[in-house]
Amino acid sequence: MGEEATSQAKHVAIIMDGNGRWASAKGLPRAIGHQRGVEAVRKLVRDVGQMGIECLTLYAFSSENWKRPEEEVDDLMNLMRKFIKSDLPEFIANDVRLKIIGDWQGLAPDIVTMLEDALERTAGGKYILAVALNYGSQQEIAAAAARAAAAGEVTADTIAAHLYTADLPPLDLLVRTSGEVRLSNFLLWQSAYAEMVFVDTLWPDFTPDHLQQALDDFAQRERRYGGR
Ligand code: FPP
Repeated sequence: MGEEATSQAKHVAIIMDGNGRWASAKGLPRAIGHQRGVEAVRKLVRDVGQMGIECLTLYAFSSENWKRPEEEVDDLMNLMRKFIKSDLPEFIANDVRLKIIGDWQGLAPDIVTMLEDALERTAGGKYILAVALNYGSQQEIAAAAARAAAAGEVTADTIAAHLYTADLPPLDLLVRTSGEVRLSNFLLWQSAYAEMVFVDTLWPDFTPDHLQQALDDFAQRERRYGGR
């Protein structure tokens, strides 16, 4: 593929980390940190179209997050319910198309119903907001490989065609907040040639300006895809 001049990232994914630390630094319960995390999501979704991004993928709940205390899992699920209910009209107004990646059919039946409704009602949107729910990348790759095998041909292309992200643009940029430098089972396959930006900002403090900085950083990088 060789060198490619980069400018605009089309597909950006974010590992939204640091809600808990944000809350404890302020002596607040973790639930408040997650609430403020949702506020940060809301602001970003409003601006995404103006930033030239076609697809924003957010890691909202991993398949490992079930190991958290039941109360925290309940808080996160309730935030999800509230967020879909309150923000669906805004998604539609902002031309946002919701997509869910992960084993989301395994969530509570009322959430599944709400999500199905939201998917249907935003189906005409231009900008994709892909939310990862009950998502694990290794599980995704294993399932995709199994499906490719069942169809008779296991190659990088046939596996990719069975990933949740098969219909999304290739991942350009992966951002993680809170100073942690790891992928935590998120988009492992899709990150093969993605640029990565790790910022110290805790997720509730992350603003559209921070995302713009990451996009500017991305625009400066020279992507080689293994060539020179
Ligand atoms: C990481 O912070 C964040 C999460 C596990 C969940 C991310 C969820 C949200 C931002 C809110 C829900 C999202 C939507 C789209 C409704 P952490 O708890 O791991 O923070 P810590 O590492 O500081 O403890």
